[in-house]
Amino acid sequence: MKFFVDTADVPAIAELAELGMVDGVTTNPSLILKSGRDILEVTREICALVPGPVSAEVVATEAPAMIAEGRRLAAIAPNIAVKVPLTWDGLRACKVLTGEGHMVNVTLCFSANQALVAAKAGATFISPFVGRLDDINLDGLDLIADIRTIYDNYDFQTQILAASIRSVNHVSQCARIGADVVTAPPSVIKALASHPLTDKGLDQFLKDWAKTGQKIL
Ligand code: E4P
Repeated sequence: MKFFVDTADVPAIAELAELGMVDGVTTNPSLILKSGRDILEVTREICALVPGPVSAEVVATEAPAMIAEGRRLAAIAPNIAVKVPLTWDGLRACKVLTGEGHMVNVTLCFSANQALVAAKAGATFISPFVGRLDDINLDGLDLIADIRTIYDNYDFQTQILAASIRSVNHVSQCARIGADVVTAPPSVIKALASHPLTDKGLDQFLKDWAKTGQKIL
């Protein structure tokens, strides 16, 4: 399973990339706001840092303007994936932009039928939002499983990019279900390495080691 980092924070991406944890990056207008950076400038920096797909989102709502914005974003670097919302206009933009050879990430997916039409429109990635479904007492992971089944039934090549990941359990469950990619905030990716028994065990080993009075170096 590929790991994308869901942030526009360049130092945070760089830290994870050093460890080989970053197969790609996803951004959205809210994350650009949080970064306080200019979208074109920060996206260019991220693309130079990470060779994998970097999603940058259009903000127009009608297909012709989405396509124009998508072309502008795609001109930043060859590894841009243009992000479009899962609306009818977004699907029209998806079809045109993928036809021009650009990667397209269709975002804000909340149902299996939406994922089905995105695949039909040739999406490179579909982004079902797990956490936001959980927020309204639906099961986001069920949606990932449904899309996996549907895509496998018909051999759709669209990659399932599980988004709105809020916990380490979301990551392991997505891996179990067979999502192609998860995109998670840096804090969640770092938390994947944590376990209380690791901390407890290490603490005991260090205490016992101190009692030996030995040194390795
Ligand atoms: C996906 O690409 C989105 O940027 C993101 O995962 C949304 O997550 P949120 O629901 O935590 O804002």
